[in-house]
Amino acid sequence: MKHTTLRDLDVSRIGLGAMGMSFGYTGAGSDDAESIRTIHRALELGVTFLDTAEVYGPYANEELVGKALKGRRDQAVVATKFGMISHTGRGPGRLDSSPASIRTAVDGSLKRLGTDNIDLYYQHRVDPDTPIEDTVGVLAELVQQGKIRHIGLSEAGPDTIRRAHAVHPVTAVQSEYSLWTRDVEERVLPVLRELGIGFVPYSPLGHGFLTGAIRSPEEFDDTDWRKTSPRFMGENFQRNLALADEVRAIAADVGATPAQIALAWLLAKGEHIAPIPGTKRVARVEENIASDGIELTAEQLAELDSLPPAAGEDHNEEQMRMIQR
Ligand SMILES: NC(=O)c1ccc[n+]([C@@H]2O[C@H](COP(=O)([O-])OP(=O)(O)OC[C@H]3O[C@@H](n4cnc5c(N)ncnc54)[C@H](OP(=O)(O)O)[C@@H]3O)[C@@H](O)[C@H]2O)c1
Repeated sequence: MKHTTLRDLDVSRIGLGAMGMSFGYTGAGSDDAESIRTIHRALELGVTFLDTAEVYGPYANEELVGKALKGRRDQAVVATKFGMISHTGRGPGRLDSSPASIRTAVDGSLKRLGTDNIDLYYQHRVDPDTPIEDTVGVLAELVQQGKIRHIGLSEAGPDTIRRAHAVHPVTAVQSEYSLWTRDVEERVLPVLRELGIGFVPYSPLGHGFLTGAIRSPEEFDDTDWRKTSPRFMGENFQRNLALADEVRAIAADVGATPAQIALAWLLAKGEHIAPIPGTKRVARVEENIASDGIELTAEQLAELDSLPPAAGEDHNEEQMRMIQR
């Protein structure tokens, strides 16, 4: 497995997103033993970069990752996130990156993860009610105290990134980026290159859709996040199947799977990029990790670059207001 750096943090260039093991997608929490085997297999195959968040579960996903890392903590770079749960009484569903909330959140995450330091601690969404300078100020204190090693932001816009980075170096920004969600290309990636900040694409498989394995929205149960996404609804879903089929056809030409092609395309987008595909199954983690060995030709990359845009927004209106802010 090749490695890259997110600023001065060394990570395997393919990570593992743990969210779906406990939260968000159909089947979450149904087989923790297989989820833990998946984390162990990833580590065995050279993945060092694990992604979780306080809000996944809530809490259950950090506990699961902590359990999986018992006796193996030194093999992993652990990233988690705060800010989607308020610890100051703002109420359910309210963002909270106030200093008081972060101070409570970090101790909870450390405990659940069974560690005395978090390698990369991200703000999950920019909080409109707390100046980013105050948030990063308290994160800098946590670095001083040794509770966290690096600071990250998720779904932050260019101005927020610049303001945060002026207070304390930001190691990585994590935002959605995949063949069918390319918003970061224009406004965010250039700023990261300029400031020397690493990039972590989340949902790199398009929430599973780009793998071609999802053929009907009927496959989702009522807790599945994809039920809220316009792209996965009705007519949009049907139209998007053609896009998944195109990825599948290119994959067949390359002699790889669609998931591997979606990841190899991201890896070709820059040096300091480390996608975190999510899966709770050993066989799929093996498949996804094998994309490390795939080099796409300029022609194949151009073909993938020119895929038609997805039908429908990725997020509903309420979620859209929280991203790239
Ligand atoms: N910062 C943020 O706001 C944010 C938001 C969303 C996610 N994330 C992070 O990013 C990680 C990855 O994103 P994601 O889980 O949303 O989406 P993703 O990685 O694009 O796709 C995950 C989905 O694809 C399926 N899958 C994985 N590998 C597959 C394969 N080889 N063939 C067929 N299906 C496959 C998984 O199902 P199975 O699990 O059943 O295999 C799961 O349903 C998350 O785990 C989380 O840590 C961060």
